[in-house]
Amino acid sequence: MGDSPRLTILVGSLRVGSFNQPAAQVAADHLAGKAVVSWPDLSSVPFFNQDGEALGDPSSVLTMKEAVCASQTVLFFTPEYNSGIPAVTKNAVDWLSRPFGNSCLTDRIVGVAAVGPSSSGA
Ligand SMILES: Cc1cc2nc3c(=O)[nH]c(=O)nc-3n(C[C@H](O)[C@H](O)[C@H](O)COP(=O)(O)O)c2cc1C
Repeated sequence: MGDSPRLTILVGSLRVGSFNQPAAQVAADHLAGKAVVSWPDLSSVPFFNQDGEALGDPSSVLTMKEAVCASQTVLFFTPEYNSGIPAVTKNAVDWLSRPFGNSCLTDRIVGVAAVGPSSSGA
């Protein structure tokens, strides 16, 4: 798997009964043997705070950033909340957008899948 493509999955729902989590699992299962898949735990990523950032990224953020930096592709699986992006997903993007001008998201292929029960939402 040394030359295999690397991909990071980020799931923007922390709910035990989440629909996005199993959808992400289907993608991870499908990619098994074809890519190295990282799936950082977003439940331990704190709210972004520029004061805290100045003290150094927390370990959960470092883990997430290292995964994305090492990946060519990032796949988000996220709910839609109130016609927008839920806090968990946005918080991950905010951390990953840093440092300003040198974000690991730059030049990555990014896919977004939004799973929900509504026929018109997400
Ligand atoms: C606060 C809140 C706001 C929501 N807003 C929307 C919405 O704007 N559009 C939509 O399609 N579903 C909306 N939903 C429903 C979610 O898409 C649904 O609960 C979904 O299953 C959440 O993803 P999960 O199953 O991965 O947790 C909302 C749910 C919550 C809790």
